[in-house]
Amino acid sequence: MQSHTRPSVGPLKGRLTVPGDKSLSHRAILFAALSEGVSHLTGVLDSADVRSTIRAVSSLGAQVDAASAPDGSLNVTVTGWGATGPQSPTTAIDCGNSGTTSRLLLGALAGYPGLTVTLTGDESLSRRPMRRVTEPLERMGAQFVDREGCLPVTVVGASLSGIRYESPVASAQVKTAVLLAGLRASGPTSVIESAPSRDHTERLLPAFGVEVTREMSTHTASVSGPANMVATDVVVPADPSSAAFLVVAALLVPDSEVVLPGVGLNPTRTGFLRVLARMGADIEVELNEDPAEEVRGTITARYSPDLTATTVSAEEVPSLVDEVPILAVAAARAGGTTRFEGVGELRVKESDRLAAVVDGLSAMGVAAHATHDVLEIVGPARLAPAQVDSLGDHRLAMAWTVAALAMTGAADREMTIDRFEAVDVSYPDFLEHLGRLGAR
Ligand code: S3P
Repeated sequence: MQSHTRPSVGPLKGRLTVPGDKSLSHRAILFAALSEGVSHLTGVLDSADVRSTIRAVSSLGAQVDAASAPDGSLNVTVTGWGATGPQSPTTAIDCGNSGTTSRLLLGALAGYPGLTVTLTGDESLSRRPMRRVTEPLERMGAQFVDREGCLPVTVVGASLSGIRYESPVASAQVKTAVLLAGLRASGPTSVIESAPSRDHTERLLPAFGVEVTREMSTHTASVSGPANMVATDVVVPADPSSAAFLVVAALLVPDSEVVLPGVGLNPTRTGFLRVLARMGADIEVELNEDPAEEVRGTITARYSPDLTATTVSAEEVPSLVDEVPILAVAAARAGGTTRFEGVGELRVKESDRLAAVVDGLSAMGVAAHATHDVLEIVGPARLAPAQVDSLGDHRLAMAWTVAALAMTGAADREMTIDRFEAVDVSYPDFLEHLGRLGAR
């Protein structure tokens, strides 16, 4: 599918709730499936990736009942397999495009002796590295049959022992996979990271009855196995990564003011707000006073015509790893050279996002360059209409849509985005929501 986007001339105005957080939706469903009892999950994202997790845990024996709420989110009731353990499915589990589904399942399932399950994925997921997860899990005693470190991977359940693992990548998927395996292992399991990745797992596991010990100064999280999980209720906040697209759109379209309530504001996810503030963006954040595990609040973003370049350091990257494409669009409209350091991980996301950002922005007339792990964008550029490709990557499809909205003085020309339907992975209502804010 192609989307022909005509640049909007009017401001973006209004208040809306972006869909539920993808990372937390996956975790809530998977943790509920592992637990004893019935969990009620609300605010769950209804998207292709989350549907992959729902299908996966269902085929493993969890009972899942998902119903659409009036706001488009899912109310999900999960009866977990708990002490009974998962069943071996009769066919392979298709994880679709979802790295989180596949990597978290590898860790969660590795420690069930007698279980055999094969995970597959789409073309993009089948190219993404799984060794980063299977390697530490094998050190715990896990057994896998894989195709050169990629999907399909067959998990052959085994008895596990806890480990102390210094992860070479700051990845919440790796950390979560090892900690979940740790719950089925004997003894303590610790994961140490070089920089803190998103900590949703550490915050959510205690709600499911599991003790997690953390040493913040060394970025260490530990669990002690074997540990049983018990059902609970979870309210999923709105996704800051989805909000980021509407925030940047508001900053770049003249006279805009967009208000986004109920957004998850976990500091391990909000690096993009800190970077945009440094660039001179007019953004206000008001925290809710509810005592939830995950802090949430309202983001107000207003047109900001005088954005300036900044340098994003490697230490900041884990807190904005999914926001680099949309921050690159903001950088294209900012004065000076914006530099993203230590962003090599973007090469192994749903697409090679460094190459894709350079290609897409270059097609729009922006000077953009990337080395192995540094991205530089020179602004302010006018952003000329172009034909660009999402490469099947949801975050690129949305970033290019925002770029189209930001094309000043090009109101009579069209931007064409190939494979736009990739937005279904995390934000199926993206165009409809932009329309509600006044975009055409
Ligand atoms: C995620 C972690 C990040 C992120 C992905 C979701 C998660 O990946 O890019 O979209 O839910 O744990 P890495 O952990 O591989 O950096």
